[in-house]
Amino acid sequence: MRGPVGVAVIGCGGVSGGHLSAYAANSRARLVATVDARPALAEAAAHKWGAARWYATVEEALADPEVRVVDLCLPHHLHAPVAIQAADAGKHVFVEKPIANTLEEADAMIAACRRAGVLLLVDQTKRYQNRHRRVKELLDAGYVGEPVLVKGAYLQDITYAWRQMDPARRAGYWKHDGVISGIGIHALDLLRWLIGEAVEVQAVAATTDLIESGRRTEDSGIVLLRFANGCVGEVTVSYVLKDPRLASSWDVMPLQIYGRDGSLQLGWDDRITVASRKLPGDGAGIVEFHSRPPVGAPRPPAEGMAGAIEHLLDCLLDGARPLTPGEDARASLELVEAAYRSIREGRAVRLPLAAPSGG
Ligand SMILES: NC(=O)c1ccc[n+]([C@@H]2O[C@H](COP(=O)([O-])OP(=O)(O)OC[C@H]3O[C@@H](n4cnc5c(N)ncnc54)[C@H](O)[C@@H]3O)[C@@H](O)[C@H]2O)c1
Repeated sequence: MRGPVGVAVIGCGGVSGGHLSAYAANSRARLVATVDARPALAEAAAHKWGAARWYATVEEALADPEVRVVDLCLPHHLHAPVAIQAADAGKHVFVEKPIANTLEEADAMIAACRRAGVLLLVDQTKRYQNRHRRVKELLDAGYVGEPVLVKGAYLQDITYAWRQMDPARRAGYWKHDGVISGIGIHALDLLRWLIGEAVEVQAVAATTDLIESGRRTEDSGIVLLRFANGCVGEVTVSYVLKDPRLASSWDVMPLQIYGRDGSLQLGWDDRITVASRKLPGDGAGIVEFHSRPPVGAPRPPAEGMAGAIEHLLDCLLDGARPLTPGEDARASLELVEAAYRSIREGRAVRLPLAAPSGG
């Protein structure tokens, strides 16, 4: 494929700004269209980010010959049907996490994209953050050695954001969306990437009235993992955390990995600390990582959603091997499904849950 790649962003709600700004700044992409069932949102996004046109329906975008990729920033239940429709129309698909609501939906998406010979890439954003890329490099370089224990977390306080949120989003989006599916999947996906595949999952969760009274889906949870390589792990997730350290950053993802040769900690301040037999001296040291490089330092690679979009373009234009293809994102969804099954049944759940169906 030759660039720039024509893109339609479908869904112009909360997350879309991160995608639209990345396309607008990337010379290898061309923002052809913005799409939203609420046309005023699509129109405003088109004006703001320089899209050639805007549409109120998916069908119009799929009929547009200049659109070669659809970027789905849609509620979870629409990921599968719209991705399948897009693949059938010959469009490449970039979709927000989680890949879908269920494993069966994910399988249908993967099969449709394979059938059509189009790319299915999922925005498992955390793998594209520079701090996590650095952690991966340090693990691959052997500072920690074979992992023994991992503790991860993804903590947010959305109680303030909730009160400010667009009522349409509140009604249509969060209701089917607990914290394990909503942000836990980021931490679980990251641990799959850093540690390996899990063979057993056990979880507990709580639902408070801190977001809204009568909320049904969980707003805090703990997921325990046993990995195939023998490592054990814990992922703590919450939407309702009250902590002074969240004042300047409402969203944090601390991480600790302990291995046979050392340990690594990614702190609340994004600083990475390593203690390792591989380091000179007494075996303890600090590997500095600056999420904002000092003045004059080389610009770090695009990261987060912009990093995922850069990678999407690398795959389409340069034949790069996809880091988070549909099959991989399905495995992260499987951990979420296993956690919910464990909560429902009050027991540890073995993986895999089920072989991929179809395709
Ligand atoms: N990667 C991340 O860090 C991250 C962060 C936030 C959200 N997300 C994900 O992004 C996705 C979207 O989340 P959001 O917060 O932007 O949701 P949102 O509800 O704010 O936006 C969704 C938009 O889709 C539109 N829409 C609904 N049905 C449509 C249809 N049939 N055709 C066209 N448009 C339609 C809605 O009008 C709305 O504007 C979800 O999968 C969510 O989990 C990812």
